[in-house]
Parts: sequence; C-alpha cells; structure tokens
Amino acid sequence: MKILVTGGAGFIGANFVFYMLKAHPEDEIVCLDALTYAGNLETLAPVMDEPRFRFVKGDVADRETVFKLFEEEGFDVVVNFAAESHVDRSIEDPGIFLRTNILGTQVLMDASRKYGVDRFHQVGTDEVYGDLPLDRPDLFFTEDMPVTASSPYSASKASADLLVMAYHRTYGLPVTISRCSNNYGPYQFPEKLIPLMIANALADKELPVYGTGENVRDWLYVEDHCRAIDLILREGKVGEVYNIGGHNEKSNLEVVKIILKQVGKPESLITFVGDRKGHDLRYAIDPAKIHSELGWLPTTMFDDGIRQTIDWYLENESWWKNIISGEYQQYYEKMYSNR
Ligand code: NAD
Ligand code: TYD
Repeated sequence: MKILVTGGAGFIGANFVFYMLKAHPEDEIVCLDALTYAGNLETLAPVMDEPRFRFVKGDVADRETVFKLFEEEGFDVVVNFAAESHVDRSIEDPGIFLRTNILGTQVLMDASRKYGVDRFHQVGTDEVYGDLPLDRPDLFFTEDMPVTASSPYSASKASADLLVMAYHRTYGLPVTISRCSNNYGPYQFPEKLIPLMIANALADKELPVYGTGENVRDWLYVEDHCRAIDLILREGKVGEVYNIGGHNEKSNLEVVKIILKQVGKPESLITFVGDRKGHDLRYAIDPAKIHSELGWLPTTMFDDGIRQTIDWYLENESWWKNIISGEYQQYYEKMYSNR
C-alpha cells in the first residue's frame, strides 16, 4: 500500500509514520508537511534514510503542489493529520485554522477524487461534540451525537468532518473519520498541557493552570491512537465515524499533580491563571463502536504512559529545548504575560 500521511512532521503524524513503517514492512509512506511552527523535521530524522519513506515539504491547501504529488505517486490511501491544532492559538487567530483545516481537507479530497484512492481517512477530534457537564459522569460522546463546537479550532475540525461526509455522499469518495480524545506521548509540541507542564516543572517554572483546573480531558497514549487508525484503514467500514478513547478521564489539576510527583517537584509550582475563553468543561469518549466492530482496546494505561512520556522528555531534552528557545518563546510571552 502507498500511503500519503499529511502533517507527519507533527506529534501524532510522526508517531503514526513510525508505527506504520514498523507494523507493515510492505507499505510505503510519503509525508506531506508544510513545516509550520508545529512541524519539526528533526522528529522524522530516524526514518529519513528509510527507502520506504519520502518527505515532501508542502502545504495541503496548495492545489498545485497537492495535485502534482498525487499524479507522481499514485496513492492508495490518504491519512489527513495536517492541521492547526492548538485551541489557544485558534482563539487568537482563527483564519489559518479555517484555511488549513477546512480548505486543506477539501484540496486533498479533490485530488483523491481526481486520481482515485481506496480510502481517504480524516483524523478528527472529539472536540467536535462540544463538551459535557462536569456533574454528569454518566454521559459520553457517541458517534451519533450532533456535531457542535466551542472554539474556532473545533469549529474548523467539525466543518472538515461535514465536508468529508458530504464528499462521501455526493461523490462516493471512500472516506472514514476517526474522532480521538486528547493524546499524549513523545514528540508532542510543548504548548499542549502535558509537555508544557513537564518542561516547566523540569525548569522549576510556574505551571499555569487555567481557571480552577477542574476541566476534564480523556487522555490516550499516542501509539494506541495510531493503532486504531491503522485498524480503521484495514477493517473499518467506508462512510463511518469511529470514536477513539480509553475511558481515562482526569481533571487538569490531577494531571499536573501526577507530573509534579513523578519529576519530584513541589505543588507550590502550580499557578492558577485566567481561564481560556469558551473553555470546554469535560470530554469523554464512548469507544464501544471501535471495540465491538474492530476489536480495538487501548494497551497503554495512563500510569505507564505518563512515566514513559516523562522519561522521553528527560532523555530528549535537546528536542524540546530547541523548540522553546526559538519562535515559540515569543508566543509563550504573548499568551501568558498578561494572564
Ligand atoms: P501538531 O500541531 O503537532 O502537528 C500538525 C502538523 O501539521 C505539523 O507537522 C504541521 O507542520 C502540519 N501542518 C500544519 N498546517 C499544514 C499545511 N497547511 N499543510 C501541510 N502540513 C501542515 O498536531 P497533532 O497534535 O499531531 O494533531 C494531528 C491531527 O490530529 C490534527 O488533525 C488534530 O486535529 C488531530 N487530533 C489531535 C489530538 C491531540 O490530542 N493532539 C486529538 C485528536 C485529534
Ligand atoms: P490542551 O493540551 O491545549 O488540549 P485541548 O484544549 O485541545 O483539550 O489543553 C488541555 C487542557 O489543559 C485544557 O482544559 C486546557 C488546559 N490547559 C491549562 O490549564 N494550562 C495550559 O497552559 C494549557 C496549554 C492547557
């Protein structure tokens, strides 16, 4: 199988490239990535010399580049990870989210129609279901819930999902969509909760917790997400949406305290800061469908996953220190100096 992985220089895309090259020695992967602030070629260094892997720098919303690549390569499968992915950035500047996440998806689907693919897989998010109340632990996101959105990020992802389903119904494009809960693991950009808190704790810096810290996220180790997408590609039903999550809900404050404990730093580093605008209260996936139809279950429990993740950040300090010493630093100042 020849697979186009877009956004493969980012967190989940890179983990997916590593997973697939190892799991399927017969497959070839081409990665298309614009190398935005979130894309890091250093991450892909371990596979750059692999003959079954090719990296192409390019923008998914650039029709000419995308169509040329499809014509050259003749893909069997497209897995679309490329996105602007950070909610706080989308609140500051929504425009680029609409361009990449919606129009980029459209361009990729237009090319998929023109050149023909066996599957177009859209990597979606549980944030398209809006949020759940904190006092109803009996409620979970299921695939048949209506799509709604709180942030410009989730609105752009929801729009892309609608467009994907429309291309399936109107043009018969063989699509699948997965909607995963919050991921954590190696190579996550240190602007997201877990790597940001690890990096700050290691540097004895304050850990900025938004609002009261009671907001709940449902955490999944990134490799479990990659394995779920692989299963959907091979055994999932065309035209279907699959939720991915492992029933691992934790409040932000709980997560931050676990990290502090593991790295041996005091809870006095926790600093409550102004809340995120429109902050979603609780995400919680019901993974019954992917479990019953495809037999998927998570294999890494949070205690192990968070330990492995912290160890990875300890062993790969140069990876994230390079990031936070650059452009990211200015972004960090802008987001947190007046909070
Ligand atoms: P990320 O921000 O770490 O990586 C995004 C990648 O996309 C980067 O390499 C970036 O350079 C690339 N990119 C951005 N704009 C591009 C463009 N116009 N053309 C080509 N490449 C472009 O994101 P991530 O956390 O790895 O998320 C990947 C996907 O998974 C996204 O679609 C996101 O919505 C989805 N998702 C993420 C999570 C999570 O917890 N991180 C959970 C569920 C779903
Ligand atoms: P994030 O990693 O940005 O993922 P998402 O918003 O897509 O779920 O944030 C996870 C949670 O952590 C979210 O409730 C916001 C909160 N948060 C903080 O409290 N402080 C921070 O510095 C960041 C980045 C996030």
